[in-house]
Amino acid sequence: MPVVKVTDIAYGRLQSPSLDEAEEFLTNFGMVRSERTRDALYMRGTDPDHHIHVTHLGPSRFIGLAFFVESEEDLARFAKTPGASGIEHLDEPGGGKRVRIGDPHGYQMEVLCGMQQLAPLPTRRNVLNWGDQKLRRAGELMRLARGPSQVKRIAHAVIMTPDARERIKWYREMFGFVCSDEVYEGTPDNIIASFNRCDRGETFVDHHVFLCIKGDKVGLNHLSFEVQSIDDVMLGHEHLKRAGKYRHVWGIGRHVLGSQVYDYWQDPWGRVHEHWTDTDVLNVHHRTNVMPAAEGLVSQWGEPVPQEFISHAIP
Ligand SMILES: [Fe+2]
Repeated sequence: MPVVKVTDIAYGRLQSPSLDEAEEFLTNFGMVRSERTRDALYMRGTDPDHHIHVTHLGPSRFIGLAFFVESEEDLARFAKTPGASGIEHLDEPGGGKRVRIGDPHGYQMEVLCGMQQLAPLPTRRNVLNWGDQKLRRAGELMRLARGPSQVKRIAHAVIMTPDARERIKWYREMFGFVCSDEVYEGTPDNIIASFNRCDRGETFVDHHVFLCIKGDKVGLNHLSFEVQSIDDVMLGHEHLKRAGKYRHVWGIGRHVLGSQVYDYWQDPWGRVHEHWTDTDVLNVHHRTNVMPAAEGLVSQWGEPVPQEFISHAIP
């Protein structure tokens, strides 16, 4: 049995040398400032969570990740894990209670509950017609205002590590993740990517919320954020491109594992942030698949994955 079963990812914590530049990038990426203090920036999406991205002021580094649990009983159980902190009141905007623990790579993992909820933000109306349902917008004109994506929520995080197959076990044991897919190169024991989702029983959840990928470094490969629609991915892509100062990494395309339409960009310090929309959702009844990289790590459409993306990690 895992220590707890987390219900979703809450936020990622990064450290960045300039909060101004961080906020400028994240705003262009499609988040909205929730709060900013002298030494930290809290950005939100259109969903009610107080924040989904935290930036602390300081030299560039990846601090860690936070996941939601259902109740304080979960926190109490987690606090008994060797190496875990006690239950702490989060002394920062958004509040809540949490327990911290260092992961096997030295990153800070948090489980929390009770984060402040805000009113959701309005989104562009975007009703699509399909081949077999072409009257979904009958009589209405589609007119999309240009601008950044509208990030809805944080969706997943990916950590690179030299032994993905072994290391993923710790996260499953702590947070209750179940494996959706694993991808190997050469022989099936050489797992190069492990895609894991939350275990919420009958409730359907995203195909993946946390991955370990194999590489020769340890660090954050990317943080990923759900946006509203395919138009939103495209509008966001154009907006970041027009800004003229951010590095595009990969996309636009549709993944095989998870099936999302994706687009990847680097922040000013090389940390990769993903936009995606339209994921596969699974519940506890879906079984794990193991497949070669040539089947799993390709796209249903779009450019093949660049080497720069596969070998990327920021400590
Ligand atoms: Fe991703």
